[in-house]
Amino acid sequence: MNEQPTAQAPRFVVFEGIDGSGTTTQQARVAERLRARGHRVHETREPSTGQIGELARALLAVVPGRPVTVDPAALALLFAADRLEHLTREVEPALARGEIVICDRYVISSWVYQSLECDGAWVRTLNARARWPDLTFVFDLDPTLALARVAQRRASTGQVVERFDVPQTQRDLARGYAEVLADQLDGVERVDASLSIDAVTEAIVGRCIAHGL
Ligand code: TMP
Repeated sequence: MNEQPTAQAPRFVVFEGIDGSGTTTQQARVAERLRARGHRVHETREPSTGQIGELARALLAVVPGRPVTVDPAALALLFAADRLEHLTREVEPALARGEIVICDRYVISSWVYQSLECDGAWVRTLNARARWPDLTFVFDLDPTLALARVAQRRASTGQVVERFDVPQTQRDLARGYAEVLADQLDGVERVDASLSIDAVTEAIVGRCIAHGL
C-alpha cells in the first residue's frame, strides 16, 4: 500500500454543502478510512475554533426574542479573517507536517452564504488570499431533505438555531452551490449526498484514491 501521498496527490481537502448535507458526518468517516490507508489526517472546520472563528459562530446563533443584529458585511469580514488566521495557525502547519487536512467548510461557504447578503465580487476579493484547496467535495442535497435532517439533529442534541436555518435561505444556498458546481472549478467535485451514509463515504474515498491518496 502507498503509505504517503505522492507529490501530486491532494493534501488539502474541503467538504462543502448546505446545512444538513452531511459534511461533518462524512469528515470523520473519510478521515478514518484514509488513516486506515496509512495517511496521517488532520480534521478541522470553519468557522474555526480560534478566537475569530468562535466570535463568528457566536454571532450566528439566533437567540429567541433578540433580533439578529450583526451586520452582514461585518460577518463576511469575520469569516474571511478567521480563514486566514486558521490557515496560519492550524492548516499550514499540519500540511507542513505531511498530514492530509480535511476541512469542513472553507472559501466556497463564504462565496455562497455571504453572497446572499453582500456583493458577491466583494466576498470573493476578501477571500482571494486564502490558498485554494487541492480537492473540494460539494455535497449536493435537496434543501427540504437537508432541513429535515437539521431539525432532527436539533431535536436530539438541543443545537441552537442559526442565522441561515431558514427554508427559503437553504433553497437560495442550494442554488448558490449549484452555480459554483456549474463553473467546474479546479478540483471541485459534486457528491450525491442523497445516497446512504455508507455510499457517500465510499464515493468520496473512491475519488480520493483515484486522486492518488
Ligand atoms: P456548520 O457548523 O453547520 O458548518 O455551521 C456553520 C455556519 O456558518 C453555516 O450556517 C454556514 C456558515 N458559514 C458562513 O456563512 N460562511 C462561512 O465562510 C463559513 C465557513 C460558514
